[in-house]
Amino acid sequence: MSEKTMRRETGQPYHRPDFVDDLDATLRHAWACLARGVKDRRSPFHTPTIATLGLDGRPRMRTVVLRAVDVEARQLRFHTDQRGLKSAEIRNDPRVALHVYDQRGKLQLRAEGIAHLHEGDDQAASAWEESRLMSRACYATQPAPGTPVAAPGAFQLPQDEAAIAQGEVNFSAVAISVTEIETLYLDHAGHRRARFHLGDGAAGAQWLVP
Ligand SMILES: Cc1cc2nc3c(=O)[nH]c(=O)nc-3n(C[C@H](O)[C@H](O)[C@H](O)COP(=O)(O)O)c2cc1C
Repeated sequence: MSEKTMRRETGQPYHRPDFVDDLDATLRHAWACLARGVKDRRSPFHTPTIATLGLDGRPRMRTVVLRAVDVEARQLRFHTDQRGLKSAEIRNDPRVALHVYDQRGKLQLRAEGIAHLHEGDDQAASAWEESRLMSRACYATQPAPGTPVAAPGAFQLPQDEAAIAQGEVNFSAVAISVTEIETLYLDHAGHRRARFHLGDGAAGAQWLVP
């Protein structure tokens, strides 16, 4: 359901979704967008930007594929290579941030959370199991991701399924326990910005000046 309102410049009617003036509905919408991002490869929520704190304290960001969302547990999951820098950064300081801008949905979503690296445990094993062969192949690349090389193609990809299987030792399922969500909805009739401290119940939700 959405409310019909007038576009200021043109006087043309357009749809203003119901969630924009409702804190609970805004939070539900944010989680629904994230959940959709797992399945819909064309959704901007499929490839969020994840920020970590560099080992020297500088912020570092990169795109990842959102692999799972557990709305009840307030958890997100992506996969990575244990040998990569972001894994070392998370081991050093598990605080992470996530960003998505959905131009069509007119929504910026920012989240903060605590990341946990699942390596060699049941969660890692089931995440590996559900990964496609093509995705698994990355984890058997030699040498390790981020290694300086003398020529652009000076690295080896696994050549067969047995070689790909050996990459499992480098595989990590990263679970993020989300602690904060902030949304910014862009609208001609008035932007809407909200912040949610998760786990605090209704008291944890707050409108902010956009
Ligand atoms: C569309 C896209 C999806 C990506 N997905 C992942 C991913 O799911 N996991 C991952 O570790 N890196 C992924 N990458 C690569 C990262 O952005 C990054 O370059 C790489 O992981 C090295 O980051 P690091 O040095 O911070 O560890 C992806 C890159 C792009 C462009």
